[in-house]
Amino acid sequence: DRTLTPYDVIGEEKLSELVLAFYHQVANHPDLKSIFPEDFTETIRKQQQFLTQYLGGPSVYTEEHGHPMLRARHLPHAITKSRADAWLSCMEKAMDEVELNEGIRDGLFHRLTLTAHHMINTPEKAE
Ligand code: HEM
Repeated sequence: DRTLTPYDVIGEEKLSELVLAFYHQVANHPDLKSIFPEDFTETIRKQQQFLTQYLGGPSVYTEEHGHPMLRARHLPHAITKSRADAWLSCMEKAMDEVELNEGIRDGLFHRLTLTAHHMINTPEKAE
């Protein structure tokens, strides 16, 4: 018997709702929308694949795209501390919107916070 993964607990459908709600927030965030493509179709598809394996589901991201190397893949984009915070606030709103179950939510949000901070690659503009 294997233990249930967070992916098993959330389920593919709820994860898909979360990813859609998340990019809806991102597309409307003044500090984020400028660094994303206008069409989110591929971004949504890749994030669904990535989060599936991040949560312990099948390795569907790696099968199609190779090792995630997430920090390296973000280097072409200017990720500041304020953009990491914005990303996390979009995720928090998305989690509220889809009513992600409390048990799974705290652990996932904590991990995403660490990952988001790891993506920072650009100092804030001196203003
Ligand atoms: C791709 C921004 C954090 C997972 C991208 C792209 C941008 C971006 C602009 C390219 C979108 C595209 O061209 O389709 C950010 C910002 C972050 C952040 C501002 C703030 C810290 C994260 C985190 C994760 C993540 C925490 C994972 C939990 C991904 C994935 C892709 C991606 C899987 C697709 C990579 C690929 O091209 O295969 N992100 N990201 N990102 N991001 Fe992030």
